[in-house]
Amino acid sequence: MRIILTKDYQDMSRKAANIISAQVILKPDSVLGLATGSTPVGIYRQLAQWYEKGDLDFSKVTTVNLDEYRGLSPEDSQSYHYYMEKNFFSKVNLRADRHFLPDGNNEDAAAECARYEALIGSLGGIDLQLLGLGHNGHIGFNEPAKDFVGSVHLVDLAERTIEANKRFFSSAEAVPRQAYTMGVRTILCAKKILLAVSGEDKADALFRTLNGPISPKVPGSVLQLHPDVVVVADAAAAGRLSRESGKDG
Ligand code: F6R
Repeated sequence: MRIILTKDYQDMSRKAANIISAQVILKPDSVLGLATGSTPVGIYRQLAQWYEKGDLDFSKVTTVNLDEYRGLSPEDSQSYHYYMEKNFFSKVNLRADRHFLPDGNNEDAAAECARYEALIGSLGGIDLQLLGLGHNGHIGFNEPAKDFVGSVHLVDLAERTIEANKRFFSSAEAVPRQAYTMGVRTILCAKKILLAVSGEDKADALFRTLNGPISPKVPGSVLQLHPDVVVVADAAAAGRLSRESGKDG
C-alpha cells in the first residue's frame, strides 16, 4: 500500500486525478470504478479541466459506480446517477452507453444485485476503483457489520451515514434508508484501488482502516489485503496516522 500525503483538499484532488489520468492514458479503454460524495468532486473537476484542455480522452472508457440509493430514480437530484451526470458524465466525452450505476428504481433487490454483479464481470472487471471513506470506515455502502458481504447487495444504511448524508437532503428523514452497493469482494477484485480521503473528521476512520485489525466493523480495513492500493490523503485526514507514527519514531 502506498500513502501519498497532500497539503489540502485541492492538492489531494489534483494528485488523485493525476493517478486516474495516468490510468486512462496508459489504457484508453479502462474500466473505472467511480464513487460519489464530497471527496471526489474536486477530482472530477480536475479531470474535466484536463479533458477540456485536450489532455484526456474518455471516449473508450467505461465506468461503473460503487452504489446508488434504493428508491431514487436517475432524474432525482439526490440520486447518484444525477450526481455523476452533473459532476462528471456531462463534462467529458464518455459514451452515454458506457457508464453504469445500480438501478435504484429496481424493486427486485435480488435481480438488481445479480444484474449489476454480472455487468461488472462482463466488462472484464475494474481496472482502477476510486473510493472515498465513511466516518465509520465504510467503503461504498459496506457499513460496519458482523460479517463482510462479498458481492453486490442491498444494505440498510447506518445511522451515522444517514446523519452524514442528510446535508444533501431536506432533512434526515428524507435520506433513503437503503442502497445498492458493490460488496467487498467486488471492490477487492479491482486491479488497482485509489482511496481518496480529506478532512480532520476522517482522521480516525483512516487510521483504523490502514492500521487497525482487518474487521467487518471497519469495512475499509479489507483494503489491507489488496496488493495495489494507493491512498491519497490530505494533511488533516492523515493527522492521526502522522501523530501515531511520530510516537513510534
Ligand atoms: C459514495 C460512497 C461512499 C463515500 C463515503 C465518503 O459513492 O460509496 O462510501 O465515498 O461515504 O463520502 P464523502 O466523500 O461525502 O465524505
